[in-house]
Amino acid sequence: MKKAILSSILLLSSTSIFADTTMCFKENHQSMSTIENTPLDGGICAGKNTIADMKAKGWLVDDIKISQSANGMNFIYVLKTPGSQMASQSNFSGNQADMEARILEKLEKKKEAEKVAKEIQIKKDLSVDGKNIYVNKCQSCHGEKGESTVGGYSRPLNTLSSEEMRHSISGYTNGTYDRGRASVMRPITSTLTYVTLDKVSAYLESIK
Ligand code: HEC
Repeated sequence: MKKAILSSILLLSSTSIFADTTMCFKENHQSMSTIENTPLDGGICAGKNTIADMKAKGWLVDDIKISQSANGMNFIYVLKTPGSQMASQSNFSGNQADMEARILEKLEKKKEAEKVAKEIQIKKDLSVDGKNIYVNKCQSCHGEKGESTVGGYSRPLNTLSSEEMRHSISGYTNGTYDRGRASVMRPITSTLTYVTLDKVSAYLESIK
């Protein structure tokens, strides 16, 4: 984790070589409400100065990076001295409410990204299982990529959503669906669960 922080420090400071900038950080901090009163490590903070101290010395918060860590959160502050054009304007980001809003926004974005990543992973796992099932139990009739119409009796499976497949399969099971060769599918559907179908669907989607 130290490494990660150091590399982002290098990255950030290299982008602001010409500004009067320092970088302070705190690793594994528990609470957003106490970070302001916690001495920060690194840069001019040097393990002694809190954000409040730095502000009192005339530094302004220019950016904050927050990441989740094993035991809390890692905070990285980019601080600048006034005198630049930005600081002479009244809307600089030095006040606490503004800063907290930005912290919250960043945490929110991070959560959202994690959620999306998780959904992608679930689909991946499904499609790995689905490949096994499809190749062994369906491919011989429905084609390598689900493109076959099985002699004109089936729609290509790779054009169907998992809901459409569910509809057809439950129709075969209870005898309400037949495109002319339902008798071929019926014995297969008796062993097909919705979960299995979702896996097949995820697999066909992944090889489109
Ligand atoms: C022995 C050949 C065969 C195998 C193996 C087979 N199918 Fe079929 N499948 C068919 C035929 C024929 C139809 C068209 C039935 C009809 O006339 O309604 C069909 C239709 C379907 C439909 C409905 C398509 C539509 O247009 O509504 C789905 C969904 C489907 N199969 C899924 C599967 C899945 C999933 C597997 C593997 C677990 C599988 N099938 C294995 C022959 C097969």
